[in-house]
Amino acid sequence: MRRIETVAALRRYIAAAPRPIGLVPTMGALHAGHISLVDAARDDCRTVVVSIFVNPTQFAADEDLAQYPRPIDRDLAMLRDSVADAAFTPDAAEMYPPGFATTIAVGGPALPLEGAMRPGHFAGVATVVAKLLLAAAPDRAYFGQKDGQQVAVVRRLVRDLHIPVDIVVGPTVREPDGLAMSSRNVYLSPDQRAAAPAVHRGLLAARRRYVAGERDRAALEAACGQALAGVREITRIDYVALVDADTMAPWEGAGRPMLAVAVRMGATRLIDNLLLDGD
Ligand code: PAJ
Repeated sequence: MRRIETVAALRRYIAAAPRPIGLVPTMGALHAGHISLVDAARDDCRTVVVSIFVNPTQFAADEDLAQYPRPIDRDLAMLRDSVADAAFTPDAAEMYPPGFATTIAVGGPALPLEGAMRPGHFAGVATVVAKLLLAAAPDRAYFGQKDGQQVAVVRRLVRDLHIPVDIVVGPTVREPDGLAMSSRNVYLSPDQRAAAPAVHRGLLAARRRYVAGERDRAALEAACGQALAGVREITRIDYVALVDADTMAPWEGAGRPMLAVAVRMGATRLIDNLLLDGD
């Protein structure tokens, strides 16, 4: 596996690489969720490039940029094992050199939920994803349903800027007890970790109601909210929202119903979602 650290070297590599090329953008601290995307890319592409870059512009000043785990040697070993062809590991100065002054402004699906809780977050995501797509020029780029709003924002981005890439979405990979895998799960204390599967239980409770025929948005949100309400380790519910999976607007019966949840356990935020009409 090649390790590539500059945009210029990535472009040279891409120019000679067999197509189709698949790109899996990550911030590292890789787990089975990330690797499932690498496996999907391996299945349908001749060249698989994984980027590892903890993108400072998507973190607010009070967020965990400094503490974000960066186990780069372990990540590279995992990518070697999953037979990625190249790891693109630029540093912040490579991606944002002095004088950097251009940011993509995002609206639509970027505004509610995480967009409202984390101002500037999706502008940072859209900017770095656009830069990665321009630098790697992949035929396909792979994203996880775990970050369902990010998927909607990225789909909107590539449509709006006519970026010629297919966005492929992989299912959320979970721990055996239902907790969605996340690089941030390492922040949880043992008690918080034990309580965290309540989020998935809430999502499943709402899906059961949906499958049984319930179509009222408030009732479906309440079915999830009830499963969270009694959990002491959940110190705050940021939102439980049933939204259209493409627009992130409140679900009104048309479009795919995505139930999105964000809770806090002390200083740690957990986000998860479920497509209620999925399997
Ligand atoms: P990161 O959180 O590292 O996630 C990288 C990719 O892995 C994202 O597409 C995310 O949705 C996916 N992923 C994370 N956990 C997953 C799980 N449990 N199951 C399936 N997929 C999972 O998302 C980012 O990085 C950044 O915002 C990025 C897109 C790289 C831009 O900086």
